[in-house]
Amino acid sequence: MVNITWLGHGTFALGVNGESIVIDPWLEGNPKFPSGFAFSRLDAMLITHGHFDHMASAIELAKKFSPKVIANYEICTWLESKGVANTSGMNKGGRQQAGALAATMTHALHSSSIQDGSNLIYGGEPGGYILHLPDGRNAYFAGDTAICSEMALYASIYKPELAFLPIGDHYTMGPEEAAHAARMLQVKKVIPMHYGTFPVLAGTPEALGAKLAGSGIEVWAVEPGKTVNW
Ligand code: NI
Ligand code: MN
Repeated sequence: MVNITWLGHGTFALGVNGESIVIDPWLEGNPKFPSGFAFSRLDAMLITHGHFDHMASAIELAKKFSPKVIANYEICTWLESKGVANTSGMNKGGRQQAGALAATMTHALHSSSIQDGSNLIYGGEPGGYILHLPDGRNAYFAGDTAICSEMALYASIYKPELAFLPIGDHYTMGPEEAAHAARMLQVKKVIPMHYGTFPVLAGTPEALGAKLAGSGIEVWAVEPGKTVNW
């Protein structure tokens, strides 16, 4: 079983076998961050791409808790230059342990760059992760992406039962593409993310649900700060 806490936008805290894992940490400045939430430990950190809304809190959390930090090679190298230890850069198709989980890096159809002061630095390719749970189930964390045909491959290879999909539109896919993605992925449940943070991220779980009517796929709209079990 995994405990899932949405921290708003694309940021999630996962609890697995007593270990704590954060994905795409953006705490301070995140309009939907649940006040009162605080990490007490952090065993692993997964980053999908270099945009600030996915790693603005990475350096601070890494220095405080010394988790294993997983991202693409370029982001890990940049984090190391900022004093982050224990990074483990990887690339698409590779798999490695992230605390009690294993994570396979997947493709994403998006961009990736790192804001370093006034400079915009190349952030490697954007990605996502297949999360391999200790009980054998797999989940797919898409990161920021448009729909892409690789998702059909992930369905075939990994058979994820749960997908975390961006639905906000504008910077990522909206509900229409996300519904098609969910069907391609053949998942049972979708946790929508990357919506509602700013007015421009206008996609809603209700719109996704309408597009998935009759599919048997459940839209699991979790609330920031309310931990759910899967
Ligand atoms: Ni992005
Ligand atoms: Mn984003």
